[in-house]
Amino acid sequence: MTRRHLVTGGAGFVGSHLVDRLMEAGEEVLCLDNYFTGRKENIRQWIGHPSFELIRHDVTEPIKLEVDRIWHLACPASPVHYQFNPIKTAKTSFLGTYNMLGLARRVGARLLLASTSEVYGDPEVHPQPEGYRGCVNTIGIRSCYDEGKRIAETLCFDYKRMHGTEIRIARIFNTYGPRMLENDGRVVSNFIVQALQGIPLTLYGGGQQTRSFCYVDDLVEGLLRLMEGDHTGPINLGNPNEFTIRQLAEKVRDQINPSLAFVGEPLPQDDPLQRQPVISLAQEELRWQPSIELDEGLKKTIADFRRRVEDKI
Ligand SMILES: NC(=O)c1ccc[n+]([C@@H]2O[C@H](COP(=O)([O-])OP(=O)(O)OC[C@H]3O[C@@H](n4cnc5c(N)ncnc54)[C@H](O)[C@@H]3O)[C@@H](O)[C@H]2O)c1
Repeated sequence: MTRRHLVTGGAGFVGSHLVDRLMEAGEEVLCLDNYFTGRKENIRQWIGHPSFELIRHDVTEPIKLEVDRIWHLACPASPVHYQFNPIKTAKTSFLGTYNMLGLARRVGARLLLASTSEVYGDPEVHPQPEGYRGCVNTIGIRSCYDEGKRIAETLCFDYKRMHGTEIRIARIFNTYGPRMLENDGRVVSNFIVQALQGIPLTLYGGGQQTRSFCYVDDLVEGLLRLMEGDHTGPINLGNPNEFTIRQLAEKVRDQINPSLAFVGEPLPQDDPLQRQPVISLAQEELRWQPSIELDEGLKKTIADFRRRVEDKI
């Protein structure tokens, strides 16, 4: 049976890959975005398709639509973008989720919230299982995003408890892949852009902090399984293979230009030193785990960036 899916943030990085999967499966898709960090370019291939609609809208305002599934991804995800207007980011997380839950309740749709590993803050527990409650600074420069997602999770559970709204919560860890913005300040895009420009790669704090990197196709598969499965979450979706930032820099450099140097910069405020998911819940409940190795994912991402960077030259 074909369902009608609303994808908020559908013109963004993760959202557009999700739109691709839903469209390829023959579903009906309403892609909603205010184009803050999303681009029409990302969903251009579906414009004009009879099962696809594009809506310019800001989720901080209510909207009435008839849908069966709501994939609530709208929210800037990279620090440079969510810190650009932190009050707007907090509004997007809180009011945006509130409006989408209101819609889900009204039409009986199931809503999946794209939450984040940032709800764990700078964790004292490593790696992080879903039961860990986090160590978040309420007044720091990342708080608009971290606390925004925490209240968004709370709202989801209160709608479930009060109104029986069907919810799913994914706690997404660092994800990378084609269509990430070149200027998003995230470590993967920074390294790739620097390497393609032939300039030294910047390592913050010596590059010994660790991250796990999940390729976007793996993440989207996890989101699809979560939405159609029985488990509400919160559930971690990420790649548990941990790399230091320096190792990542070396991999990017080696694929693009092995002669490039590194330069050091101090660590930004509130930047967590370690982040790695425990994914046993996703393995058990969703039969999901990432399958794309970092080298392979980087290769596809670099090819996409190369095309975009070269288009601009
Ligand atoms: N990419 C990651 O590593 C990662 C990690 C954890 C969580 N997430 C979550 O996944 C979701 C998607 O992230 P992404 O990496 O694709 O980011 P992105 O910035 O590429 O996508 C977000 C999309 O939401 C849109 N948007 C922002 N504010 C909006 C608003 N008020 N109204 C309507 N649209 C709005 C943007 O224009 C953009 O298209 C976000 O909710 C993010 O918090 C992503």
